[in-house]
Amino acid sequence: MEDKPKNPARRTLFKAIGAATAAGVTGNILPGCVGKKGDTGKNLAFAEIPHSLDAQHHLPTGYHADILLRWGDPLFAGNTPFAPEKLTVTEQEKRFGYNNDFIAYMPLDADAGPGEGERHSKSNNSARGLLCVNHEYTQPHLMFSGYKDEVSAVRGVPAEHVAVEQAACGHTIVEVERTGNGWRPVLDSPYNRRITLHTAMAITGPAAGDRRLQTTTDPDGKRVFGTVGNCAGGKTPWGTVLIAEEGFGGAFQGNPDTIADPVEVANHRAFGIHPDNRNWGDYDRRFDIGVEPNEPNRFGWMVEYDPYDPASQPRKLTSLGRFEHEGFTLVSKPDRPIVAYGGDDDENQFVYRYVSRRQYQPDDYAHNRDLLSDGTLYAGRFNDDGSGRWLPLVFGRGPLTEANGFRNQADVLIDARRAARLVGATPMDRPEDIETNPVNDCTYVMLTRNTKRSGTNNANPRPRNPTGHVLEIVPPGRHGERNHAAGTFAWNIFLLGGNPNAEDPEERGAYGEQLPGIVSADGWFTCPDNVAFDARGGMWVATDGCEKFGFHNGLWAMPTDGDQRAIPKHFFGCPEGAELCGPEFTPDGKTLFVSVQHPADRSGSTFDNPLHRWPDNDPALPPRPSVLAIYRRDGKIVGS
Ligand code: FEO
Ligand code: CA
Ligand code: CA
Repeated sequence: MEDKPKNPARRTLFKAIGAATAAGVTGNILPGCVGKKGDTGKNLAFAEIPHSLDAQHHLPTGYHADILLRWGDPLFAGNTPFAPEKLTVTEQEKRFGYNNDFIAYMPLDADAGPGEGERHSKSNNSARGLLCVNHEYTQPHLMFSGYKDEVSAVRGVPAEHVAVEQAACGHTIVEVERTGNGWRPVLDSPYNRRITLHTAMAITGPAAGDRRLQTTTDPDGKRVFGTVGNCAGGKTPWGTVLIAEEGFGGAFQGNPDTIADPVEVANHRAFGIHPDNRNWGDYDRRFDIGVEPNEPNRFGWMVEYDPYDPASQPRKLTSLGRFEHEGFTLVSKPDRPIVAYGGDDDENQFVYRYVSRRQYQPDDYAHNRDLLSDGTLYAGRFNDDGSGRWLPLVFGRGPLTEANGFRNQADVLIDARRAARLVGATPMDRPEDIETNPVNDCTYVMLTRNTKRSGTNNANPRPRNPTGHVLEIVPPGRHGERNHAAGTFAWNIFLLGGNPNAEDPEERGAYGEQLPGIVSADGWFTCPDNVAFDARGGMWVATDGCEKFGFHNGLWAMPTDGDQRAIPKHFFGCPEGAELCGPEFTPDGKTLFVSVQHPADRSGSTFDNPLHRWPDNDPALPPRPSVLAIYRRDGKIVGS
């Protein structure tokens, strides 16, 4: 059962979107998600900040941001302060990595210790926890002296810089605590750990051991070193963290056309492996596909690990498919299957959903640990009439047969994109973060932009979509009983990014219940990327792509219900060149962590001559990607 429109204004909203997009840009006109009336995010009472573009970060009056972790900051007691000219691979392995992205705050139970994830995962401690942070990629021209520009750094990096880059990728686990003077890292914590491209990991699930995952150093196809392209991720209620492997193709060099197997030629090409990619393979031979043609098949997965056990080994979950993972986020209801939603962040790729085979049992830690291993992966079809269907990616079903080149379920998962296209999933405008609102229980898909679309559909209505949009997925069932595991759903366009007054209809934004004028001059944004929900259902959208429209990337907050539904307010602005990632609240909602990624990233900006030197503004230091802890000076809930 779909929800009914709650009031005539709802219909006005969709008429308005229809009118605003009449010039060839049409959205469907189905009702939105209706929770308990007016209870999602209504108290977004901060003073909005203006659009701007400069070398600083920006916050509303009454808020403060601690610069909590910067690239190169020590993670262990006894580490010296960061000195970029002295950075070695050994040093980088003990320090915060580069280009921070996803953030998970994992509370620490005061009475439990390392290895006791079951107890920690039930804690709501909002003053002491583990900050688990992805490091998506490296930029040698901004990390080291001597590079003329980004292009010269791609193919001309010496072995010692490659080694540092590989140690600066991956992930950091660091204990953090709130003190009377704000947040600080705890440098003598037993939990502090780096995961890099050198960390041993298991390959698990249906594709583990398949011949396409076997290499000369791992003939069993079950053990791989490291993770790369770590964009967003997710958390499980049993206390593990999920790390996505997104743009992994750029780590590999070589010409796919020289590979004997035509399946791998197409596979490697599709992920952007090219002779002109960065030259890591010159020194670490597994990144040269001429040497190890199967190594790329061991990347592009979701990785799960236990932050509460520093000795635990991460594992790659082949059950969640292989593509350019933005992340996977969970819907966990007692005695129901675990449902997880994920996106493939590339033009015209797909939205995915996973349903566990067994049900989630909140008090059975051992049972839950394998719920992400043996369920079913689906790809989404968004029909033009506002209905949708989840299409199973199962070997032997529909077109997923030997006649179409699939030998087994491992092939279906390794080539999930090809499988999704064959079953008829809908090509989307670059699906980024997908999360479910804990209050109204509907699911929101960030579609960041797409300049390579050929042919529209109602879920991706712009022929050229430079400003992105947000979709709302409404699972069947009334509020409180929604069935995320069902085979069907309803969907609608929640908002269209862009300036609501833009002359070009393809860039014209649509927000709220009437147009134009419903959103303030600073409330509109473009290119939604990451999303988080606060405990009251307020939606916080981080962007990557506003600078093309003249202002900084940042964070915008809005309710998903009530009179202010889909009307954003501007909360945070990045320093120039940066995108914002990883918004994450503490359980009490009083701290908001954000990742400022690639500050001062601009053509011509280098380590020696950067656009600016945020956040240190010290002539001895380059610009540094950093995690900020944001809170109100009066200690109240962020956004209230
Ligand atoms: Fe790494 Fe999808 O942004
Ligand atoms: Ca992202
Ligand atoms: Ca998110």
